[in-house]
Amino acid sequence: MNVAVKSAEKPKGEHKTPQVIKKVGVIGAGQMGTGIAHVIALGGYSVALNDLKKEKVDESVHTIEKFMRRQAEKGIITEGDVKPALKRISYAPNFEAFADCDLIIEAATEDEAIKRKIFADLCKNLKAGTMLATNTSSISITRLASTTDRPEHFIGMHFMNPVPLMELVELIRGIATDDDMFALTRTFVESLNKKVAVSEDFPAFIVNRILLPMINEAVYTLYEGVGTVEAIDKAMKLGAHHPMGPLELADFIGLDTCLSVMQVLYEGLSDSKYRPCPLLVKYVEAGWLGRKTQRGFYDYRGEKPVPTR
Ligand SMILES: NC(=O)c1ccc[n+]([C@@H]2O[C@H](COP(=O)([O-])OP(=O)(O)OC[C@H]3O[C@@H](n4cnc5c(N)ncnc54)[C@H](O)[C@@H]3O)[C@@H](O)[C@H]2O)c1
Repeated sequence: MNVAVKSAEKPKGEHKTPQVIKKVGVIGAGQMGTGIAHVIALGGYSVALNDLKKEKVDESVHTIEKFMRRQAEKGIITEGDVKPALKRISYAPNFEAFADCDLIIEAATEDEAIKRKIFADLCKNLKAGTMLATNTSSISITRLASTTDRPEHFIGMHFMNPVPLMELVELIRGIATDDDMFALTRTFVESLNKKVAVSEDFPAFIVNRILLPMINEAVYTLYEGVGTVEAIDKAMKLGAHHPMGPLELADFIGLDTCLSVMQVLYEGLSDSKYRPCPLLVKYVEAGWLGRKTQRGFYDYRGEKPVPTR
């Protein structure tokens, strides 16, 4: 699959927007990097997937295969789509392996220091035209772009979890993002059968600016003894028709990610209404991060999830 866009005739700096996207690098093979690699490979693009350890990428490719097979069973894709898509995914042991990528999507842990270091290291290895995107849930795109040598070719590309199922991708321009780059990435996202919502670059953008304070409030509701874990989730599922309860959803997102987003909102908007609930902090300090560590507001180690309070 190649995605191309017509270039507007205007002067450019050193980094020209590439005209096509053929190969995409993905940094971070956690739940989001895995989902992103899945949809990009199915979209017909080559994918190079990187994480701190090779085992993490192996695990990720295994998850992708399982999920694709399930999609084929359900008739969402064909059996014949699976093998070629998996063949398009390769392991990137380091950032040098991204040298021939046209676009790199960073989906590492939601921690600004980690992301800044990744982008600083990454730029040393890239060709001039390579475009950069971050899947951050909350951190300023403009600030992350400023750590690179190509802020005009840097964008927020916020996929939703689980990526193969969710229709939306938020696109967020940094202050310097080039119009051609924006158009090209929009075409790319749409080629993955996703819909785009454009957000301005403010803390947590649109979806998480609204969603995460709701989840944080659910944790306060638990903390203050207004309801139990089960009562809170049941209330929001049956009383507000949410498909998942807020605490179940927090476990699904990852409590570390939820806490990071609340910290970005609290600090970025200097408003006490975004204060992370101390109980959320305690869970993260315990390493009870939700589904990914088998324990959060529910314990997932048994046959069915059991509330932890
Ligand atoms: N979880 C969600 O629901 C969700 C939704 C949308 C966006 N996001 C965003 O996506 C990003 C990833 O979140 P996630 O839920 O996949 O987290 P995760 O904890 O499942 O995965 C993060 C991965 O990044 C890897 N990593 C950390 N430092 C790295 C480095 N220096 N180089 C390479 N890999 C590194 C970790 O080993 C881990 O595999 C975050 O920015 C998060 O805010 C998350």
